[in-house]
Amino acid sequence: MSNLVRRLTGGKLVLASHNAGKLREIRDLVVPHGIEVVSAAELDLPEPEETGTTFAANAKLKALASATATGFPALSDDSGLSVDCLDGDPGIYSARWAGPDKDFSMAMRNVQEAMLAKGATEAAKRGGQFVSALCLAYPDGEAFVFEGIIRGEIVWPPRGTQGFGYDPIFLPENHDKTFGEMTPQEKHGPRPDGEPGLSHRARAFALFEKYAL
Ligand code: IMP
Repeated sequence: MSNLVRRLTGGKLVLASHNAGKLREIRDLVVPHGIEVVSAAELDLPEPEETGTTFAANAKLKALASATATGFPALSDDSGLSVDCLDGDPGIYSARWAGPDKDFSMAMRNVQEAMLAKGATEAAKRGGQFVSALCLAYPDGEAFVFEGIIRGEIVWPPRGTQGFGYDPIFLPENHDKTFGEMTPQEKHGPRPDGEPGLSHRARAFALFEKYAL
């Protein structure tokens, strides 16, 4: 990341996502900067196929598709859980591991079983990370990626009922609660020392805010 990022200077920003939660978070962040957010869903834009092999590549193809289709800058987000002993899986396939019914109990169980098959029984072998890649793309094809990472341990059994997805099996480093046991404020909110929030997405947002707004 550098100062070379092209800043947003008011006007419309298309959010290349059909997820209402992401839309709300981003709207809160950019509205004070005089930027109006419209979602890809509101504009009836199709969701492009995620054919990239990295979070950044998928974020980029989603943002570029929205920017070129609408003529406005666009912001996308691609995220997931990468487990060290599984060579980064489920990674960019995190949503797909939950199947068409979005069954994350099954997805978490499959992560645990794959880890046991690799002999990952002790904490030292159970490292992993959540990754969030945000991409800001302009209609002329320029694109900038902001990536946030939080490292931690994959625990079993799942703990906590807050959050979503793989939160109950992710214990962020230097903490004793899983993401599933944390309140949204604890997971995403700014730290008491003014540092950005703990989560991968909060960290990516902090970079986007610093360099692009
Ligand atoms: P996508 O970025 O919308 O394609 O979805 C990524 C998938 O990664 C989600 O469906 C979740 O399963 C998982 N994921 C991403 N961020 C988080 C998180 O903060 N907590 C739990 N699971 C997450």
